[in-house]
Amino acid sequence: MPLVPATRLLKAASAGGYAVGAFNCNNMELVQAIITAAELENAPVILQASQGAIKYAGLSYIAALAKAAVAGTSIPVALHLDHGTSFEQALRCMTAGFSSVMIDGSRLPFAENVALTKHVVGVAHVLGVSVEAELGKIGGTEDDISVSEAEAFFTDPDEAARFVAETGIDSLAVAIGTAHGRYKGEPRLDFDRLDQIAARLEIPLVLHGSSGVPPEAIREAVRRGIRKVNIDTDIRESFTNAMRRVLEAESGEIDPRKVLGPAREEATVIIREKIRIFGSANKADTV
Ligand code: G3H
Ligand code: 13P
Ligand code: ZN
Repeated sequence: MPLVPATRLLKAASAGGYAVGAFNCNNMELVQAIITAAELENAPVILQASQGAIKYAGLSYIAALAKAAVAGTSIPVALHLDHGTSFEQALRCMTAGFSSVMIDGSRLPFAENVALTKHVVGVAHVLGVSVEAELGKIGGTEDDISVSEAEAFFTDPDEAARFVAETGIDSLAVAIGTAHGRYKGEPRLDFDRLDQIAARLEIPLVLHGSSGVPPEAIREAVRRGIRKVNIDTDIRESFTNAMRRVLEAESGEIDPRKVLGPAREEATVIIREKIRIFGSANKADTV
């Protein structure tokens, strides 16, 4: 099956009341772990490439890995640009075969975020590519701001409704208390705000910074309208912990496959757990 637009996966998720896992990848082993986990769970899945991934692996390698992956599987898979920085980068991804792009104008004033996002939507929709955008600021745990400071950056429900109407995007990343990277304490999600956003919008909502969020909070967010859940840090951690374990046990190991193979297996286990939490297991055939 060729790569499918994320919109198709997220529409099915909205109809079925579950969320699709969007897992970050930057090498062959991670792509294989994500696809194997999705196959074992019979789940639709989104492969996504961050700015760091594009810098590390290169756009053409990521696109080629995703295309090789879908050529050998029957589960529905989308390839998505994560936190796209410019119109040009989004266009490069579309040209390389990505079926979905995020344009992240959240650092910009509202009107400029609208203008940039609209520009991307205009081209993407002609090409059948889905567009995710962000309103509010999700940020990273390393940003070191207090919870009350962070709230100032949370997504405003009325602004979100205007943003979607003015841009025509397919999905919206919302700032409701999650952050990228490892949490210092336990993250507290603003579910009331999520309800208010979900009540005003008809498009699927996206939760970023979902590593380290307790499973019950993720399930609650999905019940309240989250349809795409982004996971990176938890996968990185399981992958590198497995590598470390092998090298600690066999400090003289020189075969990369002996180190990366167990890492791939460990990442597969974690991704399968996430898929079950999101409710997308056994949903591949409903897309
Ligand atoms: O957007 C969130 C990603 O976890 C950042 O990943 O370090 O590969 O750019 P990166
Ligand atoms: P985590 O690394 O916190 O899981 O966030 C991933 C993410 O939001 C990618 O866009
Ligand atoms: Zn993110």
